[in-house]
Amino acid sequence: MKPIGVVVSGSSPVVVPIHVYKGCENYVKEDAFVVIKDDVKSMDYFGVIRSPRMYDPLLSHYQRSSIIDNPELAKQGREVVFEATIIRVLGVLIPEGQLTPPRQPPTPRSEVYLVESPSDVNLKLETGLELGKHKFSGITVPIKPEALKYHIGVVGATGTGKSKLVVALVKEVLAKTNWRVIVFDHSGQDYAVLEEFKDKVVDSSKVTQDLESIFQYLKKETSISEAGEDVLYFTLTLYVLYNGDLRSLQKSQSRGLYEYSGAPGKETKIELDKDNVKDAILKLPELIETIDLEEKIKETQWRTAMLVELFKAVAENISPQMKKEKPALLLSLQKRFIESLNERKMSGKDILERLERDRLVIVDLSSVRQEERRYLVASVLRRIWNFIDERKQPVNTLVVIDEAHNYACQQGCSPSMELIERTAREGRKWGLGLVLASQRIIDFSPDVRNNINTFFFSKLQTPSDLDNLKGVLDLGGIEYEDIAILATREFYFAGLGNPLKYPVLIEVKQV
Ligand SMILES: Nc1ncnc2c1ncn2[C@@H]1O[C@H](COP(=O)(O)OP(=O)(O)O)[C@@H](O)[C@H]1O
Ligand SMILES: [Mg+2]
Repeated sequence: MKPIGVVVSGSSPVVVPIHVYKGCENYVKEDAFVVIKDDVKSMDYFGVIRSPRMYDPLLSHYQRSSIIDNPELAKQGREVVFEATIIRVLGVLIPEGQLTPPRQPPTPRSEVYLVESPSDVNLKLETGLELGKHKFSGITVPIKPEALKYHIGVVGATGTGKSKLVVALVKEVLAKTNWRVIVFDHSGQDYAVLEEFKDKVVDSSKVTQDLESIFQYLKKETSISEAGEDVLYFTLTLYVLYNGDLRSLQKSQSRGLYEYSGAPGKETKIELDKDNVKDAILKLPELIETIDLEEKIKETQWRTAMLVELFKAVAENISPQMKKEKPALLLSLQKRFIESLNERKMSGKDILERLERDRLVIVDLSSVRQEERRYLVASVLRRIWNFIDERKQPVNTLVVIDEAHNYACQQGCSPSMELIERTAREGRKWGLGLVLASQRIIDFSPDVRNNINTFFFSKLQTPSDLDNLKGVLDLGGIEYEDIAILATREFYFAGLGNPLKYPVLIEVKQV
């Protein structure tokens, strides 16, 4: 190993000041690994360079120097310039290759060596998931698999490589653990497009919506009155319970309900029997207990004219005063949306069955509206939690949410936020881990960010983003200036999953 300097006065077990040898300045880089060989104590300290500084004893920042009058003097006396830096000790190397906590300060005048390749030190970190190597030494710093259930955050400005890092993580999890992975691909650009994942992709426009989201959408689009809201909710629930087959609610003499062709102008008059509808409404509470509405939605035949007829009949029953012609008309104008539901034949249950079988499912969210994406994330997570609540057994599943500020924020992220919060708080008990990637951690609700135990962070948008990170993580003195210079694929790796227990700079492998 290349000697680069020597320990000077004032070392502590963890923070060690050194002077850099003349000519070695170019080797001293922030975040590089070093070994301090202490011959007096017969100990090898393993550490990382922090805050290198150059000094000139003759040019104090605050004292007038003669150079300002004679610039040519700057060229003289350069030999007195020197560099000093701090070594943050990560541990004492023992012969077996592990690191033990440093308890004694290295002796001044001990020599410091630069670690330039993994073979320079006998360092045997625990095995785990390999996302990349330490930037300067090439040493692999794996993430401990146990950390998956304590949740992982990936933060950095756009283009820093968050999504690619997560792709690397997903591949490692699949290759080296028995965990399953469900990825919510916000943009559809990060996973869904990769050749190797192609057959694992679910198009979210083919996934059934739950009743609540269908209701919310129609409610908004028809600007329905408060009284109308209840009518709409009952209508949708009934419609789904009957799978859209309303024959049993029909007036006995009216035929032709199912001769309805759907062609404009050809729609057969549908007449529902008021009393039949009333009975159906009364039976609703009892039925709803026993029926899996989401599976029902999958089988439901959506016909706008029929839904509108049911709406009118329900209105007559539960809200006779209501003016129903206008909302009914507005509802019929939603034909395109309503009948698009016929294309959706995959339920949350189907997604989880695929997850069980294939170990990886990628839900491409890009084909549906933003609010719907949140409903979808929520309904899949809710299914997983239902399973856990019933079986009380670990699921060993990693839930990956990219652009997570759209799903885990405090305001406006309902209903996915509530489910993500529950996962953040309780997931560890059941092997349900989160990977949340986002530009800004402040956009996560406090319950979410306080429960993430491992972080990868890169260049951030603003200094306050780093302060937010400091609030939940020991950054060991890493400052905004340090991360401002990071390039694509360069991340600090910090927290529970890091075997070195101190943030280290890694370069994520190419994916
Ligand atoms: N690990 C990597 N392997 C290969 N290319 C990468 C990697 N990380 C980043 N890149 C490059 O940088 C671009 C931005 O990365 P991406 O992961 O999409 O960033 P982010 O999600 O942070 O916006 C990618 O399109 C790719 O070209
Ligand atoms: Mg991205």
